[in-house]
Amino acid sequence: MAKKPAHKRKARTSGKSSIRTRLIEAAKAAQKNAYCPYSRYPVGAAVITDSGRVFTGCNVENASFGLAICAERVAIFKAVSHGEKAIRALCVAAKSAKPCGACRQVIIEFAPKDAEIIYVDWNPMAKKHKVTFTKAGKLLPQAFNPSEAGL
Ligand code: THU
Repeated sequence: MAKKPAHKRKARTSGKSSIRTRLIEAAKAAQKNAYCPYSRYPVGAAVITDSGRVFTGCNVENASFGLAICAERVAIFKAVSHGEKAIRALCVAAKSAKPCGACRQVIIEFAPKDAEIIYVDWNPMAKKHKVTFTKAGKLLPQAFNPSEAGL
């Protein structure tokens, strides 16, 4: 039987390294679906939620440039729209991948401070990738904080 793509497989274990590998594979696979005819900068993202489900996203651009949406937000909004509001880890794959400021605010809405954030510096044309790990709590110093604002 043909093997299911990484993002459709159930987590085999809750081990850190298998989650990392799974998210990296899923983000790289999602990057291939990027719709980016204007920037030609494909981005893929994958999140794993507390229940172990993986959701992926890619950037989707538009002729009206401001309507483009980033891969990270597509993945997170897919998770939330499936009732999954707790992000355990997120991976973004692109050449010099790093989430933009808007995505960072969205990530911290759904990810606790200790959630793992993985950057995969990955150019589909290249043979090698570089992986960097950080934490959600480091993404946005002095972030807008709804409880401080009384929301
Ligand atoms: N982009 C992402 O998908 N994620 C980011 O974190 C940074 C930027 C996309 C948006 C746009 O389609 C293209 O990359 C160039 O900015």
